[in-house]
Amino acid sequence: MKKILKLNEISPLADDFFKDYEYSSEVKTPEGIMVRSAQMADFEVNKELLAVARAGAGTNNIPVAAYAEKGIVVFNTPGANANAVKELVICELFLGGRKITEAIEWVNGLKSEGENIPKLVEKGKSKFVGNEILGKTLGVIGLGAIGISVANAAAALGMKVIAVDPFLSTAGAVALSSSVTLLSSREELYEKSDFITVHVPLNAETRGMFDKKAFGKMKDGAVLINNSRGELAVTGDVISALGTGKLSRYITDFPDEKLIGVNNAICVPHLGASTPEAEDNCAVMAAKQLTEYIENGNITNSVNYPSVFMPRTGVARVCVHHKNIKEILSKLLAIISAQGINVANMQDVSRGEYAYLICDLDDTPSTESLNVMRGVAGVLKVRLI
Ligand code: MLT
Repeated sequence: MKKILKLNEISPLADDFFKDYEYSSEVKTPEGIMVRSAQMADFEVNKELLAVARAGAGTNNIPVAAYAEKGIVVFNTPGANANAVKELVICELFLGGRKITEAIEWVNGLKSEGENIPKLVEKGKSKFVGNEILGKTLGVIGLGAIGISVANAAAALGMKVIAVDPFLSTAGAVALSSSVTLLSSREELYEKSDFITVHVPLNAETRGMFDKKAFGKMKDGAVLINNSRGELAVTGDVISALGTGKLSRYITDFPDEKLIGVNNAICVPHLGASTPEAEDNCAVMAAKQLTEYIENGNITNSVNYPSVFMPRTGVARVCVHHKNIKEILSKLLAIISAQGINVANMQDVSRGEYAYLICDLDDTPSTESLNVMRGVAGVLKVRLI
């Protein structure tokens, strides 16, 4: 029986997919891993491990590049928690425009005032006057499932929405409201936005993107909303920008020690995807992708290998993770041919420096020939299903 290790609590809706597996937080030598936010940097990878499925969008807790090199596929669940995050962002737009958090805190302090409370409320409320979002400009950075969902919802609320995403997919462009204006540079977005919300992954290019220089280009009093990852912003520069009024608010799902308690910083405890609906959606999507890969070798929504879906034909399926280098495919096919086996169907797809061959054969190749494949320079993993 194949084994799936559960590194975090995962919605029980995933259980249905793992009926034929040993699925728990205790299993050793797993073929698959289901994870949410557990840090995997120091996880000792066993040789049986085929794939890791993250029930969520960000994969910065998983050593994605190192796993690619070992032929381990990492999946995420784009879109599965988009509605939950969108709803939080909409809430934060209002929190950015109005002084609701401070006002609630002030009212809580009035408890002992008894019957004077209504009078004190009317007298004190002018300190908490805020702005509406209607007609204001929202800049959306990153138009994946979440960014698109936020852009469309904000446009429906009467905001002028502008956005940047150099990697916008065709499907994304179709899903995006026609009222959203696409810009080609972040600088232009900074100059024009009253509110900015970011929906990009954390990587070498995006780490620290909100720094002194970026704040310098923004409108005075801009509101920055960051539900993606804390490290996208340089905390010291955020605090300075709040101090000078360059930023009127910084609202983030990723509190840190320096930020908590800073005037006009609103820290939310990573609640973006914390709804049962999002947790169910993510768990189901992650489990489906993981089992489809383990059972059939098909890849959907991987962050380190290309997508491939090939219905099963033939008698045996051979899956090969390999470097995207010349002549490797002909070498692999020659090994199959040398066995006198017909290739019923095949696909070889690449993504950056990695590629994946999925090959349905009319006969089962010998263990010896699979080992010969494993010995070809640039081959990372060979699997017979
Ligand atoms: C995500 O990456 O999907 C969100 O930050 C929520 C989460 O980490 O679970």
